[in-house]
Amino acid sequence: MLIEIPQIFSPEEARAVRDRLEAADWIDGKVTAGHRSAQVKNNRQLPEGHPLGQELGNAIIERLTRNNVFMSAAVPRRIFPPLFNRYEGGEEFGYHIDNAIRPIKGSTERVRTDLSMTLFFSEPDTYEGGELVIQDTFGVREVKLPAGSAVLYPGTSLHKVNPVTQGARISAFFWLQSLVREDSERALLLQLDVAIQRLMQDAPGHASIDELTGIYHNLLRKWADV
Ligand code: NI
Repeated sequence: MLIEIPQIFSPEEARAVRDRLEAADWIDGKVTAGHRSAQVKNNRQLPEGHPLGQELGNAIIERLTRNNVFMSAAVPRRIFPPLFNRYEGGEEFGYHIDNAIRPIKGSTERVRTDLSMTLFFSEPDTYEGGELVIQDTFGVREVKLPAGSAVLYPGTSLHKVNPVTQGARISAFFWLQSLVREDSERALLLQLDVAIQRLMQDAPGHASIDELTGIYHNLLRKWADV
């Protein structure tokens, strides 16, 4: 399941974030790559634990936890503190699958990477290339979103970032562990939730709303690990 989550930040807010990130000191992105993916990773990153990264990361998580589409699609249990990367001058990240388990720096907590997320901060018309290409059961999708919007996709997918041949692409990327481990189960819950929401709008007070909501919770109880 691949889901776009539009306008987590407005274009103006995204620009303000981008301006602050532009002015930061960036380091080689290989520091957070696994052994294999380090061989195909060629970009720059804000160091893990950088104060600006922490501040912006907290702002991202705060927005996300208030976003119904995100909460319904991800059913998050644990969110990895967002990291920030930057591609320019032909930089790219070749095909890879992300590490399954991510330790959170400075804590004993670990996150199983059920879902990956990229939040774009550069407007698509300001750089050439830089598409996030994701291969999964849904086929191959190329994603390049407006600044402030994000894509959520299964951590199990093979993915790459095309070379950025002009301009710069700045984004946040991170992973999360879901209460529901299986992508197919999360997809069913999301479908059911969307159908219930539509029913609530189109036929408020309909007896099936309570019944379907009950089924939603019984499925969540069956599939969730807390
Ligand atoms: Ni990756």
